[in-house]
Amino acid sequence: MTKVLIATEKPFAPAAVAQMSEICNSAGYQVQLLEKYATKSELLQAVGDAHALIVRSDLVDREVLDAASNLKIVVRAGAGYDNVDTAYAREKGICVMNTPGQNSNAVAELAIGLAIYGIRDLFSGKMGGELRGRTLGLHGYGYVARNVHRIARAFGMNVMVYTRYSKAQAASQGIGVTKSLEELYAVSDVVSIHVPARGEHLQSVSMDVLKHLKEHAIIVNTARKEVVNEDELCEFMAARPDVKYLSDIAPDCIDRFKQDFEGRYYFTPKKLGAQTAEANLNAGVAAAEQIVEFFENGDRTFQVNK
Ligand code: 3PG
Repeated sequence: MTKVLIATEKPFAPAAVAQMSEICNSAGYQVQLLEKYATKSELLQAVGDAHALIVRSDLVDREVLDAASNLKIVVRAGAGYDNVDTAYAREKGICVMNTPGQNSNAVAELAIGLAIYGIRDLFSGKMGGELRGRTLGLHGYGYVARNVHRIARAFGMNVMVYTRYSKAQAASQGIGVTKSLEELYAVSDVVSIHVPARGEHLQSVSMDVLKHLKEHAIIVNTARKEVVNEDELCEFMAARPDVKYLSDIAPDCIDRFKQDFEGRYYFTPKKLGAQTAEANLNAGVAAAEQIVEFFENGDRTFQVNK
């Protein structure tokens, strides 16, 4: 019998697990749940006889893939699949998928929430500002950025974007597309980062672009910390005491922030962009459905390691 392991150190909402199990059970598959595991060995043991694996940000490295001799498919219920060794999975003939777009509204709402928190001076009681009339720069134009744009438009913000691959889509939405990343950072009051942690995006938020930021700019990062050159960010924060940085993931140099940038930063206690009941349900159900489609019809639409 096909066995589907749902392994989540940060569990899905119970309603999501119930629906995912129902989808798998209806296809005749057995579901095993491994939640809040504290050690990797628990995952290594559980994955041993699994044919399919559903994870969130859980690390699926060589060791995990080698421990899973029956494994045919890994679905990262979410967008970023930097936690999965996709190349090694491909070598082993294991299909890796994500569930693009399924949790994007949740992340977008958090980005806007962080922007509000930033422009209101972290609710310090000091005079803040308003988003209306200000320019939001979207660094990247994937599913999350498109949702941020939708919300920002309702706030009366002027939205600009820098994207290499989605220029036509952005222009069709009436968004101004900048010619360079430097230009985006130069025209924005709030920059919101929405690029994946791969390729040219790694460390793309560097001094070269940061130095163009306007006075009192706010940087919102609901992407990955790897897209930011953290040493250069610290250098920049030190040189520009008017700038704020709010992120859904604390940088490795968090101690420097605590020491030198008090009142100018905020980091969520744990990555929580997609931590909503709705996002869990959307991404979890999509993952279960993609697994059934894969086994029953050979559907590889969302494969990311072709
Ligand atoms: C994603 O890549 O989809 C988000 O970062 C959500 O990650 P999570 O499932 O670990 O919350």
